Amino acid sequence: MNEEQRLYNSQVKEVENKTEKDYSQYFESVYVPPSLKEAKKRGKEDITYHKDFVIDPDFLGMGNGRKFFIRTFGCQMNEHDTEVIAGIFLSLGYTSTDNVQEANVILLNTCAIRENAENKVFGELGHYKKIKRDNPDVIIGVCGCMSQEESVVNKILKTYNQVDIIFGTHNIHRLPNILMEAYLSKEMVIEVWSKEGDVIESLPRVRRGKIKAWVNIMYGCDKFCTYCIVPYTRGKERSRRPEDIIQEVRQLASQGYREVTLLGQNVNAYGKDFNDLTYRLGDLMNDLRLIDIPRIRFTTSHPRDFDDYLIEVLTKRGNLVEHIHLPVQSGSTSMLKLMARKYSREQYLELVRKIKIALPDAALTTDIIVGFPNETDEQFEETMSLYEEVGFEHAFTYIYSPREGTPAAKMEDNIPMDIKKQRLQRLNNLVNDLSAKAMHVYNEQIVEVLVEGESRKNSDVLAGYTRTSKLVNFAGPNEIIGKLAMVKITKTKTWSLEGELIEVVAGQEVGVL
Ligand code: 5AD
Ligand code: SF4
Repeated sequence: MNEEQRLYNSQVKEVENKTEKDYSQYFESVYVPPSLKEAKKRGKEDITYHKDFVIDPDFLGMGNGRKFFIRTFGCQMNEHDTEVIAGIFLSLGYTSTDNVQEANVILLNTCAIRENAENKVFGELGHYKKIKRDNPDVIIGVCGCMSQEESVVNKILKTYNQVDIIFGTHNIHRLPNILMEAYLSKEMVIEVWSKEGDVIESLPRVRRGKIKAWVNIMYGCDKFCTYCIVPYTRGKERSRRPEDIIQEVRQLASQGYREVTLLGQNVNAYGKDFNDLTYRLGDLMNDLRLIDIPRIRFTTSHPRDFDDYLIEVLTKRGNLVEHIHLPVQSGSTSMLKLMARKYSREQYLELVRKIKIALPDAALTTDIIVGFPNETDEQFEETMSLYEEVGFEHAFTYIYSPREGTPAAKMEDNIPMDIKKQRLQRLNNLVNDLSAKAMHVYNEQIVEVLVEGESRKNSDVLAGYTRTSKLVNFAGPNEIIGKLAMVKITKTKTWSLEGELIEVVAGQEVGVL
């Protein structure tokens, strides 16, 4: 080796050492596989709130000249997580792209709630094999609920070697470190904390729209319904502090947002984990209703924790809308018991009765699972009869899907698929009938619509939603997008309404749109 070569080699070594030295402190050195068993534990430790989280300046500029693409599966919580992930990418200097072919980082934000949600993700990952072959420098990542499952991580390790990074729902703020490690390492980078992390405020986020915004009020779920994977993938219930939520909603109002949806897996448990103050969802809604923003919603509710004070606050109306999504899951008390829902058919109906007395015009919608282990024809009929009795205006209906690691997955999945499908079909027919009926009531009425944009099906008409979440299409000028308008309903369909613009609601000059 001549002198020149020696010098070159020592310089290369120096760069390599420097890279390792500079960044190794940021990396998780040992890979610990995710464990649903660990995730099940509920400790008593206090939650730490990080109010001044900042991305380490060492990582800034990492994405200069690079593009990211994110595909999101599943619920609104995931959609909102994607807004945070996108915010982190932008802070690092990346730009976003809708074209997966030109992306330098491709991320799948996944959902684990049912098997078909998982299959979609694996299918999509399969498509990325060719992208990786054509461009080995592209980074392919998996995050969201599926990455919390050990079986999924093992399957990816075994069969999907096009994947470069896997990170969990509690590791989102670690994305800069994970990306940097992926650039420096030849191995798949896996960082999944099974135990929930702290509450991290002030993460950057890019909101998808300028009219409606999501605001997390709590994370996790402690309900452990026997079929559900969420308490394992999202950890224990952690509520954000009221002042942080109020400040975020105020800021959204001042930016011109018209509607906020408060998010949590079980929003009615909001505040239960505070040990220094008694402040629950009713209190939060009572404070938020004073903010100058036209509409505030919340999702998802659990009937068990839906208290009288919340109902009382909702009757003050104003910006608190008349739509309550109240998953019932089954109309049979014995099924509810097997599902560990912690209420009976009668208790659910009693809650509905109270809501209806307080808010007679409230739209009630729900989630239902059919074909849960041991569900008899009679028990399914109880679901049908409860649906009619409540008069739900819409429902998300599902065939039970066993989730490994949950108590229900240990029960025999003993309802044949054709029976499950028949039940779903019958239920969906009822859902359609009652939806059409609920829509019919709007005929000739004048309703307030938040105009969201051109209709997806026909760009000549505008589309928006009523306070009760009914889709309304009507002709009008594009300038009123983002505004509240009064619309007279002229035609009702099963899933939407058609109408004529009467007038734009006066006094909407708050913020800029
Ligand atoms: N199988 C089918 N549906 C499920 N849900 C949750 N877990 C499962 C499962 N294992 C449904 C419930 C819940 C909604 C978000 O998804 O109805 O309310
Ligand atoms: Fe799952 Fe039940 Fe928690 Fe909802 S309340 S997220 S269904 S465990």
